[in-house]
Amino acid sequence: MRLLVTGGAGYIGAHFVALAVERGFSEIIVVDDLSTGLRRRVPAEAALHEFDLAADDSVPRLASLLQDARTQAVVHFAAKKVVSDSVSFPEEYFRTNIGATLNVLEAMREAGVPHLVFSSSAAVYGEPDSRVVYESEPCQPINPYGQSKYVSELSLANASRAWGLKATVLRYFNVAGARNSLLADTTTTNLMPAIRDGITHSRVVSIFGDDYDTPDGTCIRDYVHVEDLVEAHLVALERLSSEQDAGTRAYNVGTGSGSSVLEVVESFNRIPGIQVPYQYQDRRPGDPAALIANVDKIESELGWRARFTTNDLVASVVEFPPLHVEEAVEP
Ligand SMILES: NC(=O)c1ccc[n+]([C@@H]2O[C@H](COP(=O)([O-])OP(=O)(O)OC[C@H]3O[C@@H](n4cnc5c(N)ncnc54)[C@H](O)[C@@H]3O)[C@@H](O)[C@H]2O)c1
Repeated sequence: MRLLVTGGAGYIGAHFVALAVERGFSEIIVVDDLSTGLRRRVPAEAALHEFDLAADDSVPRLASLLQDARTQAVVHFAAKKVVSDSVSFPEEYFRTNIGATLNVLEAMREAGVPHLVFSSSAAVYGEPDSRVVYESEPCQPINPYGQSKYVSELSLANASRAWGLKATVLRYFNVAGARNSLLADTTTTNLMPAIRDGITHSRVVSIFGDDYDTPDGTCIRDYVHVEDLVEAHLVALERLSSEQDAGTRAYNVGTGSGSSVLEVVESFNRIPGIQVPYQYQDRRPGDPAALIANVDKIESELGWRARFTTNDLVASVVEFPPLHVEEAVEP
């Protein structure tokens, strides 16, 4: 299958490209503006085109890339992802995340490419009443990042109705881990990279809230290994290629079980030589006590389930720290 991957120089996109190359996908085009991505993450087997998908001229550029390469499917990872930034710069998040998605859809329509896998997020659910979340839960995102993902999902559904798009929306829960240091997440906004960063630089890690209604008082989340996650994209693509009917179908991607922040810290502490220094801070607004994916739908409809546990994930985060800044300098 010939693929175009947006955001393929990013943390998750590059893991996907590496897996696709390994599985024999020979023609892969990556489109990335390298705003957070790294050129060196894109393997020689894939052709990198560097431009901003939210820019006005991206539709004709993308459409001609899709036509020239006779692309069969698009995997759309490119987006901004830092929730707190989205609260400070909502226009930028809407322009980039929604704008890029609309441009991708317009180019696909123009080029006659019907299949799309889209990176969404558990952030679309906002603060759900129940701890275990089904896809049928109403989407009530509480920050511009989650809203941008939800509006993108609605745009996909509109395109399915209007011109026959066949799309799979994957709502990621908490993603972590790495296949190697080159591909590892360089940001430290999420818990596991923040802990790893704290260990590396002997910094105290902040735990936000110790009085939640959970067994140890800290928040519970569903942590999925990036290698499991990218496998779900391949399964989704395979299913789309045999899909008869247009439509947009959403799936949770998680493990189906949760770990508290303190359990994650304990998991790090079980690794010889590691002791995570931490201190409690006030709760952050908008952090639900627990958020765990119900994964029945993806298991039954796509036959996918996570293989890695939280302990595996923690081991991978420790084993594969991202390259140092000086090592990661672009050629
Ligand atoms: N990392 C997570 O925990 C997580 C959780 C839920 C959803 N997601 C989603 O998964 C996707 C990938 O996330 P990631 O963690 O790999 O982030 P990342 O920042 O590492 O990757 C995003 C990539 O998209 C590129 N990009 C951004 N805006 C672009 C634009 N306008 N034009 C072209 N390229 C652009 C960046 O340069 C980068 O390479 C995103 O859509 C994100 O919202 C991530």
